[in-house]
Amino acid sequence: MKLKYWSLALLFAFLGSCKTQKTLKKSEDKKDLFTLFEEDPSIKTFYSDKKGVFGKNGMVASAHAEASQAGLDILKAGGNAVDAAVATHFALAVVFPFAGNLGGGGFAVIRNKNGKAFTLDFREKAPLKAHRDMYLDSAGNVINGLSLKGHLASGVPGSVDGMVEMHQKHGKLPWTKLLEPAIRLAGEGVVLTEREALGLNNNVQVFEEVNGKASPYFKKPDGSKWVKGDLLVQKDLATTLEAIQKHKREGFYAGKVADQLVAEMQKGGGIISIEDLKKYHSAWRTPLQAKYKEFNIITMPPSSSGGVALIQLLRFTEPYPLQKWGWNSEKTVQVMIEAERRVYADRAKWMGDMDFVKVPMAELISYKYLRERWSNYDSTKATKSIDISGGLVPGYESDETTHYSVVDGEGNAVSITTTLNGAYGSKVIVQGAGFLMNNEMDDFSIKAGVPNMFGLIGNKANEIAPEKRMLSSMTPTIVEKDGKLLMVVGTPGGSTIITSVYQTILNVTDHKMSMQQAVNALKFHHQWLPDRTVFEPNAITENAAKNLRNKGYEIDQQKGTLGRMDCIMVHPDGTLEGASDPRADNTSKGY
Ligand code: GLY
Repeated sequence: MKLKYWSLALLFAFLGSCKTQKTLKKSEDKKDLFTLFEEDPSIKTFYSDKKGVFGKNGMVASAHAEASQAGLDILKAGGNAVDAAVATHFALAVVFPFAGNLGGGGFAVIRNKNGKAFTLDFREKAPLKAHRDMYLDSAGNVINGLSLKGHLASGVPGSVDGMVEMHQKHGKLPWTKLLEPAIRLAGEGVVLTEREALGLNNNVQVFEEVNGKASPYFKKPDGSKWVKGDLLVQKDLATTLEAIQKHKREGFYAGKVADQLVAEMQKGGGIISIEDLKKYHSAWRTPLQAKYKEFNIITMPPSSSGGVALIQLLRFTEPYPLQKWGWNSEKTVQVMIEAERRVYADRAKWMGDMDFVKVPMAELISYKYLRERWSNYDSTKATKSIDISGGLVPGYESDETTHYSVVDGEGNAVSITTTLNGAYGSKVIVQGAGFLMNNEMDDFSIKAGVPNMFGLIGNKANEIAPEKRMLSSMTPTIVEKDGKLLMVVGTPGGSTIITSVYQTILNVTDHKMSMQQAVNALKFHHQWLPDRTVFEPNAITENAAKNLRNKGYEIDQQKGTLGRMDCIMVHPDGTLEGASDPRADNTSKGY
């Protein structure tokens, strides 16, 4: 009863303010949402009742309060959304070493105040010395862990070039100013949250294994365990950031930092060379834009699979009355699972770096193709993944990426997802420079049909080649309604990124939730292989789960949680709602 009242209160508060509410006028739609609670108390809609953060002049949502504050300070100093995103990125590299980075890469979706969209691909690239079978032994078997840990696991980093490129094209404030918060946080220290303290403690051994016992990084000076409230000071990282502040791109891809990076690689059997660093450049791509109902989705084309997959998912379920059927009802979940099954099978078959392979993007998102792909859907039983395509792979788990969203007072918007891949990447910390390197090479299909750390499989389209970008699932996205900015959306989560972004968008567009409710809402995930669906605890009623099992679906409980969303919604009166995930330390800051 309490849950029902609370949900009703939130919903009514939302109805007063959101411009997507119009379709709720039909009383039957309302009834369906409410009766869900009356019929089965085992369902819970939200992870928590965390409230959104509201502002009129600017909003930054990121994985860490200090990083959001860095972005907000830049907005207040007269910077635009791109300036704030750059400051947030560098701050995350300091305060959130788990995934924030200098040694990684990512994707940016930008929509300026005039409605023009841009997408920047600053994904890592395979080094020049990389080759297709570099992670296989002489018998052709995968050498366990080689693409995941240590020096050979890293691609050529793209983040610093990406930030410079983005600022050159769209920034407003001087570059040097944008680095100031990160340099201060690295030099003076950041106060550890409980989660970060735990993350560092859990990785002490592996940091030593990869970097040697003498490596000074991420160790508490007195040798004891980190605890919440400790100050993490990173002097070498501050010096590296100063080099980037002074020399922009050249401060990282040339000179002392580049030498340190290459020396580190040589020390540990890595293959990234000075030539690799010199040749790395991020790429402006044509944004992937598609209509979904009355919304326009602006998202990332390959080398991320995220955008194509997101549009396929939305369009597969577009014909179905999801709101009428109810949030996470049996019928709603069934069509979503079947959409996810088909989309992830397509991902494995078709997707790779468009600079190397032809990805039939237009065909994959066309209604004609999707209708044909849906023709074997049968509402009375589960389609078997084996019948969509072959092979069985083990499980997947991870949320070691990070996303941040920014909107400024003029309506410029930035959606960026960035990563080192695994938690703390390859665990390699560049000696003297103090930053972590990625283990992004694992996102290639290191052997056709063999799963990566997320259980994702691939084939030729995503095989390793020098200077090729490994396929990603990152899905930074911006949603427009009536030609106006509505939402900036994204999350970490490896293979689960796509399905979390999908559900968060549907929670707003179809289930009429506020931005924060959409983020708080419990989530589920299916990815073709393995042929099972995982739900956050209580995200589905016992009855719906039972009925789906009877139809042949394997339904499991997710270990841990799904998604770490950082999103922003623009309300009809221009108010910005920052919605950061309650599942971790994520924080929105606005004014
Ligand atoms: N490293 C995870 C992804 O790019 O999807």
